[in-house]
Amino acid sequence: MSNNSNQHPKLTKRLTRLLDMIKPNAYQVIWDGCCDHGYLGEALLSSNYTEQVIFVDIVPEITRNLSIRLAKYSSDSFQVLTKSMTEIEPEQQLRHLIVLAGIGGDLSIEILKELSQKYGGYCDFLLCSVNRNFQLRRFLSSNGLLITEESFITENGRYYELMMTTQLIEPEIKASPVGNFWDGKNSHHANYLKKLLNHYSHYKNQDTLESEAFFEYKKLESEVFKDNL
Ligand SMILES: C[S@@+](CC[C@H](N)C(=O)[O-])C[C@H]1O[C@@H](n2cnc3c(N)ncnc32)[C@H](O)[C@@H]1O
Repeated sequence: MSNNSNQHPKLTKRLTRLLDMIKPNAYQVIWDGCCDHGYLGEALLSSNYTEQVIFVDIVPEITRNLSIRLAKYSSDSFQVLTKSMTEIEPEQQLRHLIVLAGIGGDLSIEILKELSQKYGGYCDFLLCSVNRNFQLRRFLSSNGLLITEESFITENGRYYELMMTTQLIEPEIKASPVGNFWDGKNSHHANYLKKLLNHYSHYKNQDTLESEAFFEYKKLESEVFKDNL
């Protein structure tokens, strides 16, 4: 069991894994983007991972309640903002980590489109989208965002891909469109792949990114899961 899951009992397995992927003191500012309950940001705040945690959610009631709960922490160690993550303005000259977790892949892409060009030079992104990871990976590799670490977990019957990314200076490294975490002997990975293949099989005769996803996952199946076929 990770040390972080003992220290932060409110964190789910998914949030604990995200916390485990963050190096303490590597960033001056960490953004808990689309924070909702803000449990991840609060764990960062209470464990002094960074100089400042900025919580952002678009729903005023959420940020109002969160501000009340966080009042026990020193006011210069955090901010709570009510706005869209597409509108944040990370301060230059500081090293930032922006966490985007628990949202759909399309929203992650929309936010990254706004932020990565303008701020990518001094921001890393920690991503855990609830769907459309193929499309998200494709966006990352076409926009010079390199996955430096990735992970996979299952929780409550759902599957999650987690990725730490950084902006490349030389954006020519070819990233895998399906990810590098796959283990042919892991039954959760096999079940997740089955689910993805089932979903994308509906698109296989089209000329779209979805049909490309189907053939890439099929290739993965024949390469990594050949013993299960
Ligand atoms: C399911 S919660 C995810 C909470 C947390 N990040 C997690 O991983 O458990 C998604 C949150 O995203 C917020 N949200 C949706 N669109 C947003 C946007 N464009 N900018 C900021 N927050 C947004 C919603 O209000 C909601 O609270």
